[in-house]
Amino acid sequence: MADLDVVLEHVDKTFPGNTRAVIDFSAEIEHGEFVSMLGPSGCGKTTLLRMVGGLEEATSGRIFISGQEVTDLPPSHRDTSMMFQSFALFPHRTVFQNVEFSLKMRGLEKDMRTRRVWSMLETVNMDALADRRPSDLSGGQQQRVALARALISEPTVLLLDEPLGSLDYNLRQTMMVELKKIQQETGITFIMVTHSQQEAMSMADKVIVMSDAMVQQIGTSREIHENPRNQFVADFIGNNNMFQGVIRSRSGSMVFVEAGSQLYYIRVPEHIRQVNVGQEAHFSVRADLMHTGDNPEMANKVRGSYVATEFLGTLETDVFEVGPGHFVHVEQHRHLSDTTYKVGEMETLCFAADSGMLLERTRRPEDLTG
Ligand SMILES: Nc1ncnc2c1ncn2[C@@H]1O[C@H](COP(=O)(O)OP(=O)(O)O)[C@@H](O)[C@H]1O
Ligand SMILES: [Mg+2]
Repeated sequence: MADLDVVLEHVDKTFPGNTRAVIDFSAEIEHGEFVSMLGPSGCGKTTLLRMVGGLEEATSGRIFISGQEVTDLPPSHRDTSMMFQSFALFPHRTVFQNVEFSLKMRGLEKDMRTRRVWSMLETVNMDALADRRPSDLSGGQQQRVALARALISEPTVLLLDEPLGSLDYNLRQTMMVELKKIQQETGITFIMVTHSQQEAMSMADKVIVMSDAMVQQIGTSREIHENPRNQFVADFIGNNNMFQGVIRSRSGSMVFVEAGSQLYYIRVPEHIRQVNVGQEAHFSVRADLMHTGDNPEMANKVRGSYVATEFLGTLETDVFEVGPGHFVHVEQHRHLSDTTYKVGEMETLCFAADSGMLLERTRRPEDLTG
């Protein structure tokens, strides 16, 4: 475990009243990684983070930090630091004094303290405002001070709970870049909890997707975007079209799935071992791999009636209804799409066999054996 900063082994947390907040959570976090835990509100992210920091006791399972088991150790005996969603700074102390505080408590001598605080203030770009009080700072500046305060003790792991949650859109975009830069400069392992797909996917080296108290997938942003493992991940991340049907035949790594009145030729990813003819199947197709028009090179086609177009920057997403209440999104760059559809107009949509991804069922507590 030499280079693993945090290891979680089958960690469970059940609150009184039988709320299962975290179930069978296992993950390995390497030294210097920026990890983000992504999932909808209430899925157990904060509870998990608090267990790593020792603020919450695990009901079962084991937690290691830098190779040492810390499951039963109090926060003061763990080499972690936590930055909370509401980052209460000391109102009557200056920026400098706020950051200096924990070093003073540890009895570090003044010269050493001063040097470390200045260096940290430079890292978070707050050295020019060292004499200000928190009330004279903007939200983003207060955030930086809170970050400096959490990092000054040089923890092995910094735990961040929705650190950008309270910032408005523009500031959040700026802070995302800065937080990532600071993490790279300090080389400290960051575990950041967020319900924002954009934050998780753009900042983290590794994303842990959670729902219903369980890990659904662990991977790089790219892996999760390109190869969602199960229904929850495909539905929650990115712009995926979901299909439901029945497996009609299998040949090697490909299957025929009947969905609606259509037969689709779909790839079976390596991690799915068992595929039975006659079994219910779900698959997804990324909106950017879905095309309009009849392309003879693509194995899969479906007819749909035009519903609407959504615009986002230079991307546009045309929405078609391919079956009652079943909408398919086709995402393309605006300059490429010169067609304008009328509502109700029929169009052929197609995608390559490789673009369809057979999915596992969402992980649920009842899937666990033993
Ligand atoms: N101290 C507590 N006592 C009882 N239930 C709790 C407590 N803290 C959290 N929970 C419950 O545990 C579940 C997970 O909560 P939380 O970890 O805060 O989720 P998230 O951070 O993903 O929104 C929720 O159902 C929540 O109501
Ligand atoms: Mg939370």
